[in-house]
Amino acid sequence: MSGALPEPVARPMPSLLERGAARPPDALTHPDEVADPKVTAEGLSFSFGSHRVLKNLHMPIARNLVTALIGPSGCGKTTFLRCFNRMHDLYPDIRYEGRLVLHPDGRNIIAPEVHPVEMRMRIGMVFQKPNPYPKSIFDNVAFGLRLHGVPAGELKDRVEEALQRAALWKEVKDRLRDPAYGLSGGQQQRLCIARALATDPEVLLLDEPTSALDPVATAKVEELIHSLRGRTTVVIVTHNMQQAARVSDYTAFMYLGEIIEFGPTERIFLNPRQQMTNDYVTGRFG
Ligand SMILES: Nc1ncnc2c1ncn2[C@@H]1O[C@H](COP(=O)(O)OP(=O)(O)OP(=O)(O)O)[C@@H](O)[C@H]1O
Ligand SMILES: [Mg+2]
Repeated sequence: MSGALPEPVARPMPSLLERGAARPPDALTHPDEVADPKVTAEGLSFSFGSHRVLKNLHMPIARNLVTALIGPSGCGKTTFLRCFNRMHDLYPDIRYEGRLVLHPDGRNIIAPEVHPVEMRMRIGMVFQKPNPYPKSIFDNVAFGLRLHGVPAGELKDRVEEALQRAALWKEVKDRLRDPAYGLSGGQQQRLCIARALATDPEVLLLDEPTSALDPVATAKVEELIHSLRGRTTVVIVTHNMQQAARVSDYTAFMYLGEIIEFGPTERIFLNPRQQMTNDYVTGRFG
């Protein structure tokens, strides 16, 4: 960043106004305060060894709405997401501080007595790079369902439903028993989305879920995210500002492990309070 503050940006910003048509009307405005949070970060910090990657985050994640995390590479977006289902626990020398509270039961997700497996059953994650299991397409999606004790007779319908929702069914319905590794990268990503959705998680974490997808598949995934509103709490990391603006209700802008600004997406993109947020969402950052 240069030392001098950039000129204020003229509003409105046409590229982001395109989203008006793409968003359902009820998604356009939200109050600043999140009335009904599904998760709250309360002074959450996280360190790898002596490297403090997340610094005292305070932020609500609105229940059954979509929250976007945006910010430059290395600011801690993935690290924040991975706290939600305790994915860091496998690393040596890590430290959580503060609380990450799952509502309404008030469980602190990062408390040592909370079992990571319980959190992973309730909170699904789709990673930036697709990571199918070395199993068939069908068994990838059925995997979590079997763990949840879904009867064998229901599996076929549940697998189909998840693949339909992830916009993959038509492409794989005749090859369900083939290995998942035989799918293209974009198909593998949608398979991972289907796998995460199949068990109807309370919270779905999506880390740049469309970065490997073509525009058609991207549009399908965005439609899917819309369809989850009202049913699932979604947190999505994206570098695509148009996407964040289109799909999310609330947005947090992160920089160097801190939340610089959080608020309704509409306001963050059209009327940010922080100069740094403005610079970032208008592409003038760095
Ligand atoms: N396993 C690890 N061990 C040590 N440091 C790590 C580890 N994983 C991430 N980091 C550091 O944590 C910081 C945040 O990384 P993170 O992956 O969360 O960023 P990000 O915002 O997701 O970036 P990107 O947009 O490039 O995906 C970086 O400085 C990174 O080097
Ligand atoms: Mg990342």
